[in-house]
Amino acid sequence: MVYTKRKIRKGPIIGLIVIIVLIALLITGFCLYKHFTSNEYKLAKVGYSEDEIATLLKMDNKVIDKALTTDYNKHLIPLASQKYFMWKNFKTYTSYINKLLEQSNKIDYEKVVRDVNVKRNYDFYTHTEKTDMDKGNAILVNKYHALPEKYAPKDIVSVSNWYCYGTAMIKNEVYEAFKNMFNAAKKEDITLIINSGYRTYEAQKAVYDTYKETNGEEEADAFAARPDFSEHQTGLALDVITYGASGDNFDTTEAFKWLQKNAHKYGFILRYPKGKEDITGYSYESWHYRYLGTNLATKVKKSNLTYDEYYAYYLDKD
Ligand code: DAL
Ligand code: ZN
Repeated sequence: MVYTKRKIRKGPIIGLIVIIVLIALLITGFCLYKHFTSNEYKLAKVGYSEDEIATLLKMDNKVIDKALTTDYNKHLIPLASQKYFMWKNFKTYTSYINKLLEQSNKIDYEKVVRDVNVKRNYDFYTHTEKTDMDKGNAILVNKYHALPEKYAPKDIVSVSNWYCYGTAMIKNEVYEAFKNMFNAAKKEDITLIINSGYRTYEAQKAVYDTYKETNGEEEADAFAARPDFSEHQTGLALDVITYGASGDNFDTTEAFKWLQKNAHKYGFILRYPKGKEDITGYSYESWHYRYLGTNLATKVKKSNLTYDEYYAYYLDKD
């Protein structure tokens, strides 16, 4: 037998190998490019741990951008995870945390966000501003938000003594809402009585000064607003009680229970609730109702927030 030697052509094989190597290089290059340009890589470079990166990547793009464009901040994730977190307050949250860390190393981020949102990182009356009167019935009046100097509202009317002890005045719109509420409560044998309504600057000053002279400034501030800082001076607030009750025991009455269930339907909210004294700045007042209008009062009621918090988050947003 005669064997003929077959000539192997090397050209195409080399060509194929080159192509395979090139493809492998391209894939590797692409993978490397993807890795080095990935948010995971960049966040790790900034200083975030694997766990933090995993959490960050599930968060809003704005949070990731912030983490990528600023120095490592271990408070970013817990802060941005809070329901009422607001970007405009981010720097203040961080500086407030640093101040708190001087006293304790345990940080309650929910409280940090809440405090800063309502300016509670400052002592009461130390950082006041004029409130935005364009908000109408929704104006916020508290220990950080003042009325215009010696403010006196328009549309103030006298309340018939059918509805109040002694005499009282109130904004017309609030009066109409109160009468509707009064009539609805009456149908259930409940009598709502206005104990105090609109107070002029001078009247509010007299209330506050009397507390101050009798009990000192600290107690006065817990019970009464300083003039130009009271909701009573807006004509939008009412102190409500019922027969046989004083302010002190009003919350044991059927009238109070009825208001808890129904006041918002007529536009009123309980403004200084129990347990929220540190936010509102006032002792619990079961009798003090603030008129906001039905829509807003219903939203505030559903939110379970004080009006100070609700306003900061929903009405004073950038
Ligand atoms: N008692 C409430 C806080 C006021 O004086 O306006
Ligand atoms: Zn009041």
